Amino acid sequence: MRRRDAAKAQTRGVTIIGPGRLGQAMGKALRGASVPVDAIAGRNLRRARRAAGFIGGGHAVRLSDSEIGSGAVIVLTVSDSVVRTVARALARQREDWSGRVVLHTCGSLGLAVLEPFRQRGAAVGSLHPFQTIPSPSTGARSLRGCYWSVDGDRKARALAEDWVKRLGGKSFRIPADRKALYHLSAFLVCPTTVTLMDQSERLLRRAGVPARMIRPMLSQFVTETARNFADWGGKKALTGPVPRGDWETLERHAAMLRRYSPELIPVHRELVRLMLRLAGNRTNLRGKRASAKWPLRGKVHKARRGPARSAILTTA
Ligand SMILES: NC(=O)c1ccc[n+]([C@@H]2O[C@H](COP(=O)([O-])OP(=O)(O)OC[C@H]3O[C@@H](n4cnc5c(N)ncnc54)[C@H](OP(=O)(O)O)[C@@H]3O)[C@@H](O)[C@H]2O)c1
Repeated sequence: MRRRDAAKAQTRGVTIIGPGRLGQAMGKALRGASVPVDAIAGRNLRRARRAAGFIGGGHAVRLSDSEIGSGAVIVLTVSDSVVRTVARALARQREDWSGRVVLHTCGSLGLAVLEPFRQRGAAVGSLHPFQTIPSPSTGARSLRGCYWSVDGDRKARALAEDWVKRLGGKSFRIPADRKALYHLSAFLVCPTTVTLMDQSERLLRRAGVPARMIRPMLSQFVTETARNFADWGGKKALTGPVPRGDWETLERHAAMLRRYSPELIPVHRELVRLMLRLAGNRTNLRGKRASAKWPLRGKVHKARRGPARSAILTTA
């Protein structure tokens, strides 16, 4: 490439690699924040074209297209399991990547996966939205104003931080050796919540709540729970039979679990254990009977066994 062409190439915008949910959502959100998206690349040209249509700009190219290397910024939004192999294959497309920035969006991977680009002169980094993106259109909305972990070489980090600012978000850094831990924390509260809400929806249907009310009702409930957690933290936001020490209700729940959702028994048991630990001395053991059955005040995790406790904590 001649010098003039190289200079021109470096003024070009972003190339997104991976026309999936985050790729499309980021493309649209970035365009909306005046960041030019030039191209969207995929292994399947038809999907890449559809993604370009959704983003509302940029053209579709195949992963093997040499044009990819002429972009100033490459963002890999491919599935976690292929970031390394896709990066390795793309990096080989040109000898010199200097002046370019290459980012990935996987929350649990460090920068080593982008080493093939770095060795060829690129500045590398990562940016990961602490956000859930079940579809491109929800993501295009929810990526604005969200929290992002950002990492990388100085130039790459500066670019990613600028994007986050343009999107009205907040960024923070996670050391490479704690990325998986960070990502686990997201896993613990998002897909798990959806799975539990889905289970709850099934039980509510069985209990006779009108179908049209179930999702809005669950949504209101979980939104309020999240708000209370944000305002007060876990211990104070915790409600329900565990902090109340209402073991009889827990026993009734256990009976329903055995009858309608036996597969949830181990999950329920472990959650009750964690709640007991969280509630700590907030656990209010009212009534002699309950206290006798549930001698859990204080060191709840060291509690002795009782018949009711076994019903809830040890039923398998
Ligand atoms: N969705 C979220 O909530 C979310 C949130 C934060 C971060 N992320 C991160 O965003 C990245 C993408 O996730 P996503 O949810 O957008 O996934 P996705 O919708 O499944 O999209 C994955 C993309 O990767 C491409 N791909 C998969 N295998 C490939 C291969 N062998 N070679 C080339 N391309 C391949 C797919 O190509 P095809 O289109 O041809 O199938 C697709 O475009 C991941 O790193 C993920 O951790 C996702």
